[in-house]
Amino acid sequence: MKGIILAGGSGTRLFPLTKSISKQILPVYDKPMIYYPLSVLMLANIKDILIISTLRDVPLFERLLGNGEQLGINIKYKVQDSPNGIAEAFLIGEEFIGDDNVALILGDNIFYGNGFSKILEDSVNYFKIYRKEKEVTNKNGAIIFGYPVKNPSDYGVVQFDKDGNVVSLQEKPEKAKSNFAIPGLYFYDNTVIKKSKILKPSERKELEITSINEFYLLEKKLKTKVLGRGMTWFDTGTPKGLLEASNFVEAIQNRQGFYIACIEEIAYTKGWIDKNKLVEIVDKLKKSDYKKYLESLLKK
Ligand code: DAU
Repeated sequence: MKGIILAGGSGTRLFPLTKSISKQILPVYDKPMIYYPLSVLMLANIKDILIISTLRDVPLFERLLGNGEQLGINIKYKVQDSPNGIAEAFLIGEEFIGDDNVALILGDNIFYGNGFSKILEDSVNYFKIYRKEKEVTNKNGAIIFGYPVKNPSDYGVVQFDKDGNVVSLQEKPEKAKSNFAIPGLYFYDNTVIKKSKILKPSERKELEITSINEFYLLEKKLKTKVLGRGMTWFDTGTPKGLLEASNFVEAIQNRQGFYIACIEEIAYTKGWIDKNKLVEIVDKLKKSDYKKYLESLLKK
């Protein structure tokens, strides 16, 4: 499965923070925001990643993450000329996706919680069909998530019937039919490319991700997993959201001593980089808590 991080947009709700810099490079406590969605794809064992951003900001991400070799992954970059909608990611990423399945994560979404890695791995594996221990084909469909929030009208909203089946989807409705928001993390089969090609822009002139999900719902191929109380999800698109996420990361890291979204740690733990590589990374860092944390991993 391929992975896309959509990290464009104009970040208007964060203005003037975003006047000269990309939202997804702003700090969430001690790391650039994009580390968090990147860590989610890595935890899902996705190693081929496309970062989509604006013409102005792609060079920043390239400077930050390069081609991913230092993390044992492959990172490519593409420009979105203007914020034409989240679903445009599949048109921009068509060549990158090829005939594979794809996970899309929004560059301003932060996830953290017990059992999340397993949820991610299961979501990737859902699409694989094995015969005699050999992966032979793809299962069709899509996976989205539902997360209970107090302000569902700010998001995509999913409504379930009493058996847990999806009944309806809404995009930022005035009257939400449920309190389950749809976080910015989606898993799709390859037909998502075809589906985005027939999409028409919405009233707000965007190719809506909710319309893509509606196609899958019509085909009865939309699977929705509810993220429970043990999970935390932040959309950091506003100053308040950004501060809340920073406070959360600081509190967890300080209390537990484990870092959230330490991408080098994930690469090392997964065996994508070896000890020598991690030593090399640590040696290049100047004095910081982040360096100390990586050094502590080497001693384990
Ligand atoms: O955060 C989850 C929500 O994300 C979902 O519940 C909604 O269904 C979905 O529409 C989206 O809502 P937002 O109001 O957060 O969308 P926003 O326009 O803020 O875009 C989300 C991120 O994607 C943001 O970091 C900018 C980036 N983006 C957005 C658009 C429309 C792009 O890079 N290009 C785009 O064309």
